[in-house]
This record gives sequence, structure tokens and C-alpha cells, in this order.
Amino acid sequence: MARGGKPRYLEVFASLLFVLGLLPLLAISAVPDYVKDHAPIIWLHSNDSFMPSDIPSHAQHTKAFKRFKPLADSPVLDFNNLSSLNQYGKDIYLTAVENITTMPEWLFGETPDVTGALHNSTACAVVLIERKDQIVDAFYFYFYSFDEGADITQVLPPLNKILPDSKPGDHFGNHVGDWEHNMVRFKDGVPVGIWYSQHAWGEACLWNDEACLSKQGDRPVVYSARGSHANYPSAGSHVHDAALIDVADKGRLWDPIQPAWFYTYDPSTDNLTALEPETAPTDWFSFLGGWGDQQYPDDDPRQQTVPYFGLKKYNSGPNGPRFKHLLRKDLMPDEKPKPTLMGTLVRIYMSWYGCCLRGINPWVVVISILLFLAVTTFLAVFTVRRLTPVGKRWLTRARKGKHASGIGSAKGLGTKVTDWFTRRKRRQEHSSEYSMGLLDPREGEDEV
Ligand SMILES: *[C@@H]1O[C@H](CO)[C@@H](O)[C@H](O)[C@H]1NC(C)=O
Ligand SMILES: *[C@@H]1O[C@H](CO)[C@@H](O)[C@H](O)[C@H]1NC(C)=O
Ligand SMILES: *[C@@H]1O[C@H](CO)[C@@H](O)[C@H](O)[C@H]1NC(C)=O
Ligand SMILES: *[C@@H]1O[C@H](CO)[C@@H](O)[C@H](O)[C@H]1NC(C)=O
Ligand SMILES: *[C@@H]1O[C@H](CO)[C@@H](O)[C@H](O)[C@H]1NC(C)=O
Repeated sequence: MARGGKPRYLEVFASLLFVLGLLPLLAISAVPDYVKDHAPIIWLHSNDSFMPSDIPSHAQHTKAFKRFKPLADSPVLDFNNLSSLNQYGKDIYLTAVENITTMPEWLFGETPDVTGALHNSTACAVVLIERKDQIVDAFYFYFYSFDEGADITQVLPPLNKILPDSKPGDHFGNHVGDWEHNMVRFKDGVPVGIWYSQHAWGEACLWNDEACLSKQGDRPVVYSARGSHANYPSAGSHVHDAALIDVADKGRLWDPIQPAWFYTYDPSTDNLTALEPETAPTDWFSFLGGWGDQQYPDDDPRQQTVPYFGLKKYNSGPNGPRFKHLLRKDLMPDEKPKPTLMGTLVRIYMSWYGCCLRGINPWVVVISILLFLAVTTFLAVFTVRRLTPVGKRWLTRARKGKHASGIGSAKGLGTKVTDWFTRRKRRQEHSSEYSMGLLDPREGEDEV
């Protein structure tokens, strides 16, 4: 089978060298330099009160709650055995021991020094996922003990006029515990692109797209929005969920890897291995519950609801890094969050507002649309009933619940509307914390 003149042993030798060369890439056993050299560098907003926070201390200030009550046989909570709470279900919430409306000191985290370092806190965990084709996804997770939601000054006109009685400084969508992240994808140790987490979704930039992201040396720059800590590639005002504004500026430097815990994680075996320090805690990563208080029920004196929109003053604490879609085809998570009804309506309204509805009182628009729908519905029902004998028969059949094949879709509009209202009413009755989840649902799993 000898082809050509090359001696066979040379071929074998070459393959051996190739395999040996690949070996270090097959399993990461120490933090690769590129993960630190290209770690994001963060600008916290100049007026943000809520700084990065020590992950273990956060747990120490909380107690495990299920359905708003401490666990009956309340186990001693220790940061190194948080995962023992999984036996009680996923709906366990690390709930602040103190009443958080009193704003205890630990909610504010630690302010980084002028070099961006923290001295008394570990607020960042870096999780490396090894993919095929020499791709490594480095997730840089940032932790803050408190997320302060938007206030009225962050609502775009004209919706800011619809919300009654909201004063600046009266924030909605707050929650205890806040996990944010960037993901940098490396191929052969070279950065390819970066993902910025923002509320229920985020934004991706290719590494060399200078119009998208800026760099400080070899490190991508991240602007953390005031209060919400959503991550943006640029400073300034950013609209999210169609109607809310996040503000970001070059306020205070935070270098998230001073210090950080570094890990590799294999989602197929659920094996998290600490790389640096080798003693970095691993158990917390397995905890399946929420990292803050569960959304207070409406009858809790701390809770308030924005009229019409269902936005809550306090939402639930988010679940942890393992839920942030660690296996991704691309820079962004594979699945977009499902839009809510109210979110979609606001989006449509705001896009029409931009072109055509400016200057018209939003109430006039809403009432006109409702009137228009009511009149159209009435006319349609009336026409079908009075003017066509066939339509009358359809309606009668539909009411009796018999619909022959082919006219199933002709179930009277009136009946459909009634059905819809009945279903809706039932849903509301069955759920004590029914909410439209308009702008930022922040219900754990919805966050990426
Ligand atoms: C920070 O807050 C102060 C007081 O509320 C305000 O006067 C100032 O304009 C704010 N600065 C920025 C950059 O938002
Ligand atoms: C967690 O660890 C602490 C001390 O390390 C211990 O006292 C406690 O019993 C443990 N709790 C559980 C549920 O294992
Ligand atoms: C928390 O404190 C607020 C006032 O700051 C009070 O209205 C509320 O009842 C307290 N809630 C609980 C559960 O202690
Ligand atoms: C460091 O953190 C610990 C635990 O949270 C706290 O008790 C201590 O006061 C902090 N020290 C400083 C200097 O901030
Ligand atoms: C997890 O991975 C480490 C090294 O990557 C290995 O030493 C250990 O045996 C693995 N553990 C399990 C349970 O697979």
C-alpha cells in the first residue's frame, strides 16, 4: 500500500505530534491566560448605590423560605451546603432575614478601590465551558445583593403620564440578589465575540466590531446600568422593553476578576471543577432555588402594583448561573424569552407613538381603540345574527357546543370573547400573584 516515497514512520511521528499538541486543549486544568487577559472590565454607574457583593455573605444574611415561610425543619444554612436545599424543591428562596425595606447595610455590597479591586468580597465567578472545535465559552458572572428597578424618571413618554402617583426615587421591579453576566467566546484561545446580559435578553458584539464594543487594552469594556446592572457595550441611555430606560456612565471602575473564582463546567455530567483557587467553593453552583426573596404577595405591606401594567415593586430573586443557558450555539442563548401580551401591546403602541400618535393623550388612544373594538364586535355579531340565516344557525350551533367540521372556526365572535373573559377571570382567581409581567418579569428562569 506504499504510496509515494515518504517513509511511513514520519507520518506516524507527525500524527503523534499533532495529538500531543491537541492534548492541552482537550481538558482545561488551569485557568488559561486568555481568559484573564480578555476578561471584561466594568464601569459601574456614578450614582449606583448597589455595588458588587460577596456571594457567601449574601447567603449568610438569608434564610431558606418556601411559600413565604421558613422551612419547617429549618436546616442550618451554610454557604457550603446550599445544595442540600434542593430536596425541598426548586421553589426555595434565600430570603433576607432582615426586613429589606429597612435597607440593611449588606444590600449595598462593597465599593471597589481605585484600581477596581474588591478586598473583602468575591462577587464574580468565571465558568468555562469547553465546546467542540477548540471553542471555549467563558461566562463571567457578576453578583450584586440588590437590584434596584426603574423609577418614573426612567419611563419613556407618554407612558410616564399614565402611571399615577409615582415619584422619582420610587422604584419598581426591585429584587434581592442579582446575577448578571458576560460571555466571551474563544476559538483556539482567540476571542471571537461577547454577549452582554440585559434583563430578560441582551446584546452580542463580534470582537473586532469597533462600532459595537470598545476595549481597554485587550479587555472589552462593559457599562453596568444604574440599579439594574444590565450590561451594555456603551455609556448613555438605553431603552429596554420598549418603554423603560437604563442609564450607564463611566462612573466607578470594577475589575471583576480581582478577585474571582474560576471553574470548568461540563453540563453533560454536571461536573463543576474549581481551577483557581483550587479551594473555590463549588456547592453553591448546584443550588436550584432563588437568590433572593420571593415576589411578595399583594397583601404584603411591602408590595405595590403599578396600576394597569401589573408591574410589581418587588419581584423574585433570580436563580443562579447554572440556569443562564450555558450551552449555546451562538453568542446569544438559543431561545428568546416569550413575549407577554402587555409587553407586545406596549411595543406596538410605542412604535406607533414614534410616528403618528405623538401629542395625543394616551388615554384618548386607549379608549378610542377599545371603543373601535367594541363597535366592530357588536356590528359583526349583529350582522351575522340578523342578516344571514346561515350565520344565525352557526351561532346557535356554536352556543349549543355542537360544531360541525368546517365551521369550527366560525364559533361566534361573541361567544369567543365571553370564553376569553371567563378563562381570564378563572386564571386570575386561581393565582394569588397574577401579574401581567409587563416590562421586566424577573421571574427567575426568565432571566438569561
Ligand atoms: C446623581 O444623583 C444626583 C442627586 O440625585 C444628581 O444631582 C446627579 O445629576 C446624578 N448624576 C448622574 C450622573 O446621574
Ligand atoms: C451545613 O453545614 C453546617 C456547618 O458546616 C452544618 O451545621 C449544617 O448541619 C449543614 N446543613 C445541612 C442541611 O447539611
Ligand atoms: C417591613 O417594614 C415596613 C416598614 O419599613 C413595614 O411596613 C412592613 O410591615 C415590614 N414587613 C415585615 C414583614 O416585617
Ligand atoms: C468584611 O466582610 C465581613 C463579612 O461580611 C464583615 O464582617 C467585615 O466587617 C468586613 N470587613 C470590612 C473591612 O469591610
Ligand atoms: C470532574 O472533573 C474532574 C476534572 O475535570 C475529574 O477529576 C473528576 O473525576 C470529575 N468528577 C466526576 C464526578 O465526573
